[in-house]
Amino acid sequence: MNAPTPQGLDVNAPSFVKHSKLIAWVSEMAALCKPTHVVWCDGSQEEYDRLCEQLVQAGTFKRLNPAKRQNSYLACSDPSDVARVEDRTFICSERQEEAGPTNNWCAPQEMRATLQPLFEGCMAGRTMYVVPYSMGPLGSPIAHIGVELSDSAYVAVNMKLMTRMGRAVYDVLGTSGEFVPCIHTVGAPLKAGQKDVTWPCNATKYIVHYPETREIWSYGSGYGGNALLGKKCFALRIASNMGRDEGWLAEHMLILGVTQPNGKKYHVAAAFPSACGKTNFAMLIPPAGFNGWKVTTIGDDIAWIKPGQDGRLYAINPEAGYFGVAPGTNTLTNPNCMASLHHDVIFTNVALTDDGDVWWEGMGDAPAHCIDWQGHDWSPQIAKDTGAKAAHPNARFTVAATNNPAIDAAWDDPKGVAIDAFIFGGRRSTTVPLVTEARNWVEGVYMAATMGSETTAAATGAQGVVRRDPFAMLPFTGYNMSDYFQHWLDMGEKLSKTGASLPKIFTTNWFQKGADGKFVWPGYGENMRVLKWMIDRIENHVRGQEHLFGLSPSYQEMNWSGLSFTEQQFNDVTHIDKNAWTAEIDLHKELFHQLAYHLPAQLKQAQSELESRLALI
Ligand code: GTP
Ligand code: SPV
Ligand code: MN
Repeated sequence: MNAPTPQGLDVNAPSFVKHSKLIAWVSEMAALCKPTHVVWCDGSQEEYDRLCEQLVQAGTFKRLNPAKRQNSYLACSDPSDVARVEDRTFICSERQEEAGPTNNWCAPQEMRATLQPLFEGCMAGRTMYVVPYSMGPLGSPIAHIGVELSDSAYVAVNMKLMTRMGRAVYDVLGTSGEFVPCIHTVGAPLKAGQKDVTWPCNATKYIVHYPETREIWSYGSGYGGNALLGKKCFALRIASNMGRDEGWLAEHMLILGVTQPNGKKYHVAAAFPSACGKTNFAMLIPPAGFNGWKVTTIGDDIAWIKPGQDGRLYAINPEAGYFGVAPGTNTLTNPNCMASLHHDVIFTNVALTDDGDVWWEGMGDAPAHCIDWQGHDWSPQIAKDTGAKAAHPNARFTVAATNNPAIDAAWDDPKGVAIDAFIFGGRRSTTVPLVTEARNWVEGVYMAATMGSETTAAATGAQGVVRRDPFAMLPFTGYNMSDYFQHWLDMGEKLSKTGASLPKIFTTNWFQKGADGKFVWPGYGENMRVLKWMIDRIENHVRGQEHLFGLSPSYQEMNWSGLSFTEQQFNDVTHIDKNAWTAEIDLHKELFHQLAYHLPAQLKQAQSELESRLALI
């Protein structure tokens, strides 16, 4: 397996790889990057264990206490490489208008000229892993294949948990199947005899997409969405382009099943921005007062959604694992998630306890002492004195979806599940009500398009700043945002012609804060109360109360069993403040001004209707 690369050209493809274009591309990339070895990953457990052991030997991984977390590891990154780098992410379409005003753009030729010298010899002294993976069930008509070449063993083992990775992918590819070529390097070549660091990376970073040729080139980072190229780069930025061309949707959405006590089941897809509660909502455990209700997980981050013969929308989770936010996760906020993390987990940037376990802020009682994510001693006293965090706020766990006790029976079904409702939810401490139902598809698209959210640690840069995050896709739409809005409008129009009923569209905000700075809405499992109201609306059991943007529940329409939440508190999180909304609509207008090129007329119309209604209150 561990074949040396003579002159960088003969990459010794194993006999089970029969795709000459793939072999030629690997040879070409090996000649460019000049790795010492090329390893063709087969995706076996033996290979995973071997690479993990190698990472332990290199100091990148610490093996956790098997009595606490069996077959699990902790990696701590370089402090400069902890999150997605949106300012270093590029959509390199031929024309700038194709990338649109929300993406960084550079002409493909110019970007290729920039990257060429950076990739030249970038893997010297390292191994190039050939990582074949399927996004979606192997061989499913909805699935697509990618091959990532990476000089990071950390990436290879994460891809094993996050995707269907390995030898079976070559069988699906055959001799001429299509794949998205993805090349990734940490950008840290080693000179002969040079000692490696535990988290190699480069101060210069480029996360580059060529939408026309469907290629991904990533340089300089080993972290998350910058490096696990099946996730945001392929499944959102490239796939959104495929979806536009082929008539489907690639979305930053969780997918869940919700079953009522009478056995009737619905499927909901929900788009919340990064670190705004998708994993939590996808694994929700209904609270007291909801006996017989059940929520099951199909996906926690990305949905590929295609129209079926019957005119309904069918969703699959292209991923096979979760790369979830650790801080704030505990047995009260997300018990299913905690139960998923007992074995076979890779933790990144959490703290190491003295008994070889992990800890993060919001997990529960702090240990008297631990080693923080940067390798320093940490104690509650040190935290008090210096403000040091034990875990980085964007610390994450990587775990296979099959570890989730609430996994949906259909999570791996190649057909996908039929979607009954879409939810769009931002993180807003003011202004936006707990839940609103759009009266029609266009109003729903308007709400999603103008959604605002406070920025989080999932991306580098300022935190807690309200920005527009259309469809929770601001960093992920791989083409012009206005064209993406049009695509959603077109999909609605096309589907409504089939006679099938379109999914309802809702917006939510779990994050309003009171004068004391605390969240007013209890959130987490209690979000079930809002989910049930949505199901009641789908079944027409409740009418909602109409207001300027749509319908919200009356206090009486919500099931409050098992929770004390007063009508006053409910009013606090649902009322509409005219001044706040006047200011909010100014922000919608600013967005539409920025997106003026190709902005759908229907959305401008929706905006002026909203303004007229606001003027009347
Ligand atoms: P990405 O993986 O970055 O796309 O994020 P995500 O949307 O899956 O976010 P996740 O579910 O991991 O939640 C991120 C943070 O939000 C965690 O710290 C949670 O504790 C917190 N959170 C999740 N749901 C709620 C909620 O209902 N209310 C409040 N107040 N916080 C929540
Ligand atoms: C997000 O930022 O939305 C994530 C994490 O899901 S990452 O994979 O790093 O993009
Ligand atoms: Mn995400």
